[in-house]
Amino acid sequence: MKIAITGKGGVGKTTLSGLLARLYAAEGRTVLAVDADPDANLASALGIPPEKAAQALPLAEQSDMIEERTGSRPGAPGGMFSINPKVDDIPDTYGIRHEGVRLLIMGKSKEAAAGCYCPEHVLLRRLVSHLILRHDEVVILDMEAGIEHLTRGTAGSVDAFIVVVEPGQRSMQTARQIERLALGLGVKSVFVVGNKIQRETDEAFIKDHLSGMKFLGFMRYAADTVQADLDGRSAYDASPGAVEEAKVIKAALDALLKK
Ligand SMILES: Nc1ncnc2c1ncn2[C@@H]1O[C@H](COP(=O)(O)OP(=O)(O)OP(=O)(O)O)[C@@H](O)[C@H]1O
Ligand SMILES: [Mg+2]
Repeated sequence: MKIAITGKGGVGKTTLSGLLARLYAAEGRTVLAVDADPDANLASALGIPPEKAAQALPLAEQSDMIEERTGSRPGAPGGMFSINPKVDDIPDTYGIRHEGVRLLIMGKSKEAAAGCYCPEHVLLRRLVSHLILRHDEVVILDMEAGIEHLTRGTAGSVDAFIVVVEPGQRSMQTARQIERLALGLGVKSVFVVGNKIQRETDEAFIKDHLSGMKFLGFMRYAADTVQADLDGRSAYDASPGAVEEAKVIKAALDALLKK
């Protein structure tokens, strides 16, 4: 099962990615969490201390490996390169493990424009589409904010998008754009999680604006989730309320994907 967590900037994609990854791991599933945001910060949301997070090697920076696998160096435009490089050993070699979660960081490719057809993206696409996976395995992709980078390659091979939204018009707009794009890219399911719920009217606001979309659940705006980030800790370790809400969201996801 491969899930991409998407949405507008700052809505809680990384927080939810961390919660779901830790919950699946706690259940004994093999979890690969991929930080696909060039501005990587999934490690702390998984509860990985900074010293340990520093041991993960961002893939986009491994120019030699990318060249060896694809036949082309990152940033070298044009040219021919292998579109199906070997990837199965990458999570073990370049990722780190924490509490049953394997974290892989994509990192920044300096030269590459988003969605470009360049070797490091080929590698990621290949990774996402071919890392399957024993049937109990879960891949969670914490995506960059917005829609520009959602291309067929990576997005096309996931089972579901989760769009995280917060009460606000801009996040609703982004959710609708993602929904349209995802369906165009062949993503089978698009689900919504409403986050940072504070007012009594917030859930209704979101449901009204996103009518027709499938909801997995909601998460309250929680002071201990804010504090967790201030302390560089994970919501999983520091916000029991968020964990309970994430359990409900996970159960809904499992039920919908089983159908
Ligand atoms: N339910 C919540 N209650 C309170 N604060 C929250 C909640 N969910 C997320 N936050 C806080 O909002 C901020 C942004 O969250 P997060 O980094 O998960 O969002 P993001 O969508 O991944 O952002 P980006 O677009 O920058 O990647 C963090 O400080 C996080 O702790
Ligand atoms: Mg994020």
